[in-house]
Amino acid sequence: MADEKLEISNEEVAPSEEISSVEAVDTAEPQYDDELEAKKYQEKKQAAIEADKNKPFDPDALLEVRHLRKAFPLKKSLTGKVLSELVAVDDISFTLKKGETLGIVGESGCGKTTMGRTILKLHPSNGGQIIFDGKDITNYKPSQMRQIRRDMQIIFQDPYSSLPPRSTVGGILSEPVQVHKIVPKSQEKEYVLELMDKCGLRDYYYERYPHEFSGGQRQRICIARALSVNPKLVVCDEPVSALDVSIQAQIINLLKDLQQKMGLTYLFISHDLSVVKYISDKIGVMYLGAMMEFGKKEDIFGNPLHPYTKALFSAIPNPNPDVKMKRIVLTGDIPSPANPPKGCRFHTRCPYAKEICKHVVPEYKEHEPGHFAACHLLDNEA
Ligand SMILES: Nc1ncnc2c1ncn2[C@@H]1O[C@H](COP(=O)(O)OP(=O)(O)OP(=O)(O)O)[C@@H](O)[C@H]1O
Ligand code: SF4
Ligand SMILES: [Mg+2]
Repeated sequence: MADEKLEISNEEVAPSEEISSVEAVDTAEPQYDDELEAKKYQEKKQAAIEADKNKPFDPDALLEVRHLRKAFPLKKSLTGKVLSELVAVDDISFTLKKGETLGIVGESGCGKTTMGRTILKLHPSNGGQIIFDGKDITNYKPSQMRQIRRDMQIIFQDPYSSLPPRSTVGGILSEPVQVHKIVPKSQEKEYVLELMDKCGLRDYYYERYPHEFSGGQRQRICIARALSVNPKLVVCDEPVSALDVSIQAQIINLLKDLQQKMGLTYLFISHDLSVVKYISDKIGVMYLGAMMEFGKKEDIFGNPLHPYTKALFSAIPNPNPDVKMKRIVLTGDIPSPANPPKGCRFHTRCPYAKEICKHVVPEYKEHEPGHFAACHLLDNEA
């Protein structure tokens, strides 16, 4: 599957009809002072962060992320001062209701995994707020996190390396049940066998070891382990990417089925847009650490607003051979997240970039209820 990652070609620009109506080049562009624009952007961003800090929590949300930032230090001075950093997650905000699935898409290295892990506090954040189940957990200490750790689980991409080889399936699934005291000891085995049944694992697998199973079965074990503690939120980080195509649908259907039965909320990370389309209620499109577009699945697929989203979607193969797809081809390599372009971070590859895009960061705005995007073209249309 790794070979099937989203490919954005570097061939010549070929804009689609959908967005070709938008003027590509402005003739008389104003001059921009980059320093001043950067200062204005930082001031505006800081003001928004301060204003949002005091906003009441959304009572319908299981997860609310406000201006989340995660940076990895690249270079430190002798005294430990960070001299340069890679901002893997930059000013990301969204809300996820209980029982919903948010699909996160974007090319490799755009920060999907880092965002998921930062939300779960497996990475410390460097800014913003994480509000989970009505509590601001941003500054929770490890001892406080222990209490809510069971409510937030993660399923990884690779079911081969994420299971301990020397434990039986029964042992693997019983451990979190014991640690979190989910049921009395006398009911443990019965509880685990029931869970295995829910996840499509036969009861005699209880005594077997991970190496005896196929990738699909191992991923079922990983899912059962994550769900053994009755979590509220599950981050699924490319949960089917390492599996055979024929097995992927079974695992996706299992996740959907379990979601309904157990009232789960998913943050579903994937580079496979067809999978994301199938499983998600909401979709977030990331590029170089930032959210480019966010909204309900129907809005994102039915009326994508951002040129990057349109380019990604134009790469989805259509199963109907009679439908001719217009592929939007992007120019240029993906820039380094350690040194993202000024202005709109997508401008070096965007076929519609104008002078303003090179200097001014477009505002991430709500263009229709619940549908957000950051692009200067949209401001001009407004
Ligand atoms: N522990 C780390 N230290 C330094 N840089 C990191 C670390 N983890 C991730 N990064 C960097 O952060 C950026 C985002 O990485 P991340 O793994 O979150 O991307 P991704 O969207 O999940 O990619 P993929 O689709 O390949 O899984 C990348 O540039 C990556 O090199
Ligand atoms: S703001 Fe970004 S995405 Fe929008 S037209 Fe300019 S470069 Fe393209
Ligand atoms: Mg990843």
